Amino acid sequence: MLRGKHILVGVTGGIAAYKVCYLVRDLRKAGADVKVIMTEAAGKFVTPLTFSALSGHDVAGDLWTLNQSTGSDIGTQHIALANWAEVFVIAPASANSIAKMTYGLSDNLLTIVALASRCPIVLAPTMDADMYLNPVTQQNINTLRERGYVVVPPEEGDLASGLKGPGRLPELQIIIDTIERVLSTSAQDLKGKKILVTAGPTHEAIDPVRFIGNRSSGKMGFALANAASLRGAHVTLVTGPVQLETPRNVTRVNVESAEEMYVAVTARARTSDAVLMAAAVADFRPQTAANNKIKKEAGKKQFSLALTETQDILHALGQKRKKGTLLVGFALETQDELRNAREKLKKKNLDLIVLNSLKDKGAGFGSDTNVVTIVDKKGKVEKLPLMSKFDVANEILNRLKKLL
Ligand code: CTP
Repeated sequence: MLRGKHILVGVTGGIAAYKVCYLVRDLRKAGADVKVIMTEAAGKFVTPLTFSALSGHDVAGDLWTLNQSTGSDIGTQHIALANWAEVFVIAPASANSIAKMTYGLSDNLLTIVALASRCPIVLAPTMDADMYLNPVTQQNINTLRERGYVVVPPEEGDLASGLKGPGRLPELQIIIDTIERVLSTSAQDLKGKKILVTAGPTHEAIDPVRFIGNRSSGKMGFALANAASLRGAHVTLVTGPVQLETPRNVTRVNVESAEEMYVAVTARARTSDAVLMAAAVADFRPQTAANNKIKKEAGKKQFSLALTETQDILHALGQKRKKGTLLVGFALETQDELRNAREKLKKKNLDLIVLNSLKDKGAGFGSDTNVVTIVDKKGKVEKLPLMSKFDVANEILNRLKKLL
């Protein structure tokens, strides 16, 4: 699996840098071509010479010095490294470097390459427990995770400071397994394909301050966008209002209402190879949205709101389908699940429908995992076990790929 793969290892300042020497050795033993970038602080713990000897390449560190291993000039060596890498593994990843990457700071070669690379980035946060558990570090790690960085969480145990807690570099085998998994799901098998994904809920205005919405978190759609992008597709993500970071290399279009989503999706569907409608689009909206805030009236105990149907985006796409554009729908059912999903697939003229169940543990709104059943046009039904939404996304894309 690792043979011949281009693995870029980024080492930041931390005592665990010495363990990463063994990581580089093991990756090389497995046949990978490994290059190392170090920050200045990393060089206080392990010398570049050590990594150079282990990797068989000069170690890149100084932005201003020409480096033989990149085979390029000073002005472009960061881009050359970013393009060379099939995966970029940052271990140990210090709190400082994580914060820089979160905010796009790029004051050394490692953070510049992180900013410039399109390949998957694996991050192994390693630091003292208090620094790791600090809300700002947690928030930064979460932001990077939402953007598509693959985070290998630290292990709990004795730390260099004498503290006990999370912060240790995980077993090297865990990092190597993660690299293999990432490489297998980032095979560029969707390269050049144009994929349109929708995500999140829609908000249907009642008045300027109130709306009708639903509990969709957008996580499934964002996972799909991230996975498709890692597999080389050009991804556009049309999303309703959600609190999620945009995955790397994905074009995001924000919309509020079903109507806005309809316009955004239909305008782009024609030029897409596939449309995956993971959004939970409102089926009804208030007939009119009041221009001013609706006031409570004294003595009025009840209030009714007239609703009118929204456009069914998928149905509309299914009716005037361009040959070659695949359509994937999502269904959330609470009863007669399979029968309803099959009916939707037929009625909306879809290629695949992904059935979500609210009944399964670990599935549904806001969760990072999901349990889905995928039904295709020919009636084939596949129930997948509980897995992360990212893995579900790849399973859906595996099936889509066969149809593309
Ligand atoms: N969908 C859509 N436009 C709408 C409503 C739904 O494109 N106005 C899409 C969703 O994104 C999803 C699929 O249709 O991919 C199924 O949505 P769902 O709401 O479950 O199905 P409905 O046909 O609206 O049926 P019901 O709400 O009765 O279950």
